[in-house]
Amino acid sequence: MVWNEFIEGDNLEVLSRLDDVVDLIYIDPPYNTGNDFAYRDDHGVGRNRHRDWTDMMRPRLVAGRDRLKDTGVLFVSIDDNEAAHLRLLLDEVFGERNFIAQIVVNLNPKGRQLGRHFATSHEYLLVYARDAGRTVLDASSSRTVDESDFPLTDNEGRRYRHLPLRNTNKKFNPVTSRTLHFPVWGDPATGRVSSETFEGAQQIEPVFGDGRPAVWRWSRPKIDAQAGDLVCREIVGRGGRRTDVFQKDWLHPDGPTLRRKKLKTIWLAEEVGSTDTAVQELKDLLGHVFESPKPTGLILRILETMPSDAVVLDFFAGSGTTGHAVALANAEDGGTRRCISINSAEPTRPGSNADLAGLRTVSAITEARLREVATSIGGGLQVTRMMAP
Ligand SMILES: C[S@@+](CC[C@H](N)C(=O)[O-])C[C@H]1O[C@@H](n2cnc3c(N)ncnc32)[C@H](O)[C@@H]1O
Repeated sequence: MVWNEFIEGDNLEVLSRLDDVVDLIYIDPPYNTGNDFAYRDDHGVGRNRHRDWTDMMRPRLVAGRDRLKDTGVLFVSIDDNEAAHLRLLLDEVFGERNFIAQIVVNLNPKGRQLGRHFATSHEYLLVYARDAGRTVLDASSSRTVDESDFPLTDNEGRRYRHLPLRNTNKKFNPVTSRTLHFPVWGDPATGRVSSETFEGAQQIEPVFGDGRPAVWRWSRPKIDAQAGDLVCREIVGRGGRRTDVFQKDWLHPDGPTLRRKKLKTIWLAEEVGSTDTAVQELKDLLGHVFESPKPTGLILRILETMPSDAVVLDFFAGSGTTGHAVALANAEDGGTRRCISINSAEPTRPGSNADLAGLRTVSAITEARLREVATSIGGGLQVTRMMAP
């Protein structure tokens, strides 16, 4: 199986002929900053900057959506120029009910110094499911789990932390969750916990810190089935000494399987990389031949939210970051992801680094990077050039 496929051509044309159905679409369209968007077609020059942009995007988003599996998901990078218009457009194309998140991505940690007002240091990722009820998106990551949050170690060297077995959320109490309010028995000398009394055991009721009645997080059968994951301890609370029950929350709950933590909606440059680190990544492979690539760390985090055999599509591929990240992810976890990248043969600026390096079109940059990726990481590359009909 080839990990990377590159198709040169206008994405609308290519998408209309594409047979593949995909699990994940990531795109980073031109942001419409005033000099990155030359699209005019038959809409007339300067009619309305935003309307021209949304008119360009609408059929491409519809064609992309039609290639997504029902379980699939779309991530789109965008900045303040079109974020509001894109959000409304995606509501129209995907349905507001399929909106998942608007993530803030801190890609320029130093902040843009050129603007008149604030030093903008972020852009956005808009996330929509094809069908929010059926998507397999898992918005969590194993990379954000902090091992120091698990300070305890058992006899076999397994790391864990203590979590109160009682539900600390005041919404849950004996009135709202009647079946979870019952006594358990525990011995702080041995740590043993049971739903039935035993020799040396004390009866323990779930209570909040202020002494009011609370409920457990686990049912009686779960307590019996997983008594080994519970421990009885004496603690000093607001009301003095008391005996309570804690869950041993393991760093690696199922043997070697990595624990995952829900992703927040602000992604920092130190976690996913920045535009500067992205330029450096590209320099290391090809040279400084593209102005605003995305860091592979950003795409790696997106890939982690989907299964490791995902078919990925990027139809504004630019320098080929998505295909690069797919190869990195497969090499790291043994996954079988496949990435289809599309970019038009848009000419590079005469005299630019790319032009001077002999890369006369953006598609030549995409292809050159993906070739380097295939050589240095593996997975191969298949190239198709789509001629105008
Ligand atoms: C912002 S860049 C993407 C950068 C990319 N994410 C990266 O990390 O390098 C947008 C890309 O879309 C391409 N593009 C614009 N309109 C296109 C179209 N109609 N069909 C295919 N590619 C297009 C441009 O050539 C440009 O490379």
